[in-house]
Amino acid sequence: MPDEAKTLQAIKFDTEKIKLEILDQLVLPYSTTYIPIATTTDAFHAIKSMQVRGAPAIAIVGAFSVVVDTFNHLQSGNGERTIADLKSALAHLIKSRPTAVNLANALNDISSILSAYDDEHKVDHEVYDKIYKYAVQLYDDDLANNFKIGDNGLNYIVESLKSENFTGPFSIITICNTGSLATSGHGTALGIIRSTFSKLNQETSNHEFYLDHVYPCETRPYNQGAKLTTYELAYESIPFTLICDNMVSSLIASLSHSKVIHGKSSPVKFIIVGADRIVKNGDTANKIGTFQLATIASFFNATQNANIKFIVAAPRTTIDLDTADGAGIRIEERPQKELTTLVGPVLNGSQVGEKITVGIATPGITVWNPAFDVTPHALIDGIITENPKAYVKDKDGNYNLSA
Ligand code: MRU
Repeated sequence: MPDEAKTLQAIKFDTEKIKLEILDQLVLPYSTTYIPIATTTDAFHAIKSMQVRGAPAIAIVGAFSVVVDTFNHLQSGNGERTIADLKSALAHLIKSRPTAVNLANALNDISSILSAYDDEHKVDHEVYDKIYKYAVQLYDDDLANNFKIGDNGLNYIVESLKSENFTGPFSIITICNTGSLATSGHGTALGIIRSTFSKLNQETSNHEFYLDHVYPCETRPYNQGAKLTTYELAYESIPFTLICDNMVSSLIASLSHSKVIHGKSSPVKFIIVGADRIVKNGDTANKIGTFQLATIASFFNATQNANIKFIVAAPRTTIDLDTADGAGIRIEERPQKELTTLVGPVLNGSQVGEKITVGIATPGITVWNPAFDVTPHALIDGIITENPKAYVKDKDGNYNLSA
C-alpha cells in the first residue's frame, strides 16, 4: 500500500449527474467496491448494515440520499410526491442508527426546510434545490471542519507537551475508525493524528517532540480499528502497530517502563477518540470500549503520573445540547451474531477468496452487544472541534459547550 485501486473516499457524489456512491466498508480492506445509493431506502440499508459508518459519514450519506431520491422522482415523472411523503421517508431514515446525533441533525434540518411548505405541496424543483444546497454545504463544511480539527488538535498536543516540559518521541492510542472513511475526508481523531504526523514531524522544525507511533485498537466486535484504521494509517504511511482492545493497559505499562515492542518504546501521551454524540455536560457516546480507555488513562495518571491526555475530537454537528447528560443517550444494540460469528473472505496467500461466516462462540447463548458506550465528562481532558479553542472543564469540572 498505497496502490492505485485503494482509496480513502467513502462517499462519491456526482454534482452533474446527481449520482451517489459509497465505498462498501464491509469488504474493506480486501476489496475496493463502490455501491450505488439511489433512494433513501438504499441509504437506510447501507447505514444499518454498516456499509457506511461513522457519525459524520452517515449524516452526509443520509442527506445526499434525499437529494438523489428527490431528483430521480422529479426526472422519472413517475407519480408525484408530497412534502408529507418525503417527511415520512426522512422519519424512517433517522431510525437506521439511533446513537450518532449527526444523522438526526441533518435529517431534522431537511425536515425544517420542508416545513416551509404545506404537507400536500408537491416536491418540486424549488424544494429540490433547497435540499441540494443543504446537502452540498453539509459535505463541504464537514471537510473544512475536519482540517480545522486536525490543526486544533495538533495545537492542543503541542501546548500539552510543552506545559509538562516533555521531550522526545511519543505514542497515541486510538479506537474505532475516525478517518476519511468515517467522514467527508481527513477525519476527526484520525485527522488529528494525520495532521500531527504530517505537520509536527515533517513540516515544522520542532524536534523537541514528535509522534513516533500509533496504536489503533482492534475495536471488537466490528473491527473498525483492525480493518479500516490500519488501512488508512498504512495508506498514509503513518507508523503503527495494531493491538487488541484488551491490550491497552499492558501496552501503556510496558512502554512507560521503556520496554521495546517491535523496535518502539515511546510512551503513550494521548488517547484520541471520535464521538457519536457529545451531550451538554460533555459526556460522550463513542464506540464501545472508549470508556475503558479513559478509565485506563485515569489510572495511569493517578498512580504513575503518566500525564496521558484523553481527548475527544468531533465537529460541532456531533454536539447535542438538548440532552443534559449521558444517561439520556440511546445506545444502539446490534445483532448477537456480530459477537458469535466472524465474517470475512478466505485468504489463501495473496488470493482473496469467497466471503464466509465462521462461528466463534457456543451456539444459542445470550449475548449483549451495545455498539457504543458513554465516557463521563470527568474522564475527558479536552474536546477538540473546529473552534480554535479546545473545550476544557472549568474549575467546577463543567464543560461549556454552547460557546
Ligand atoms: O459503529 P460505527 O462504526 O459507526 O462507530 C463509529 C464511531 O464510534 C466513531 O468513533 C464515531 O462515529 C466518530 S467518526 C468520525
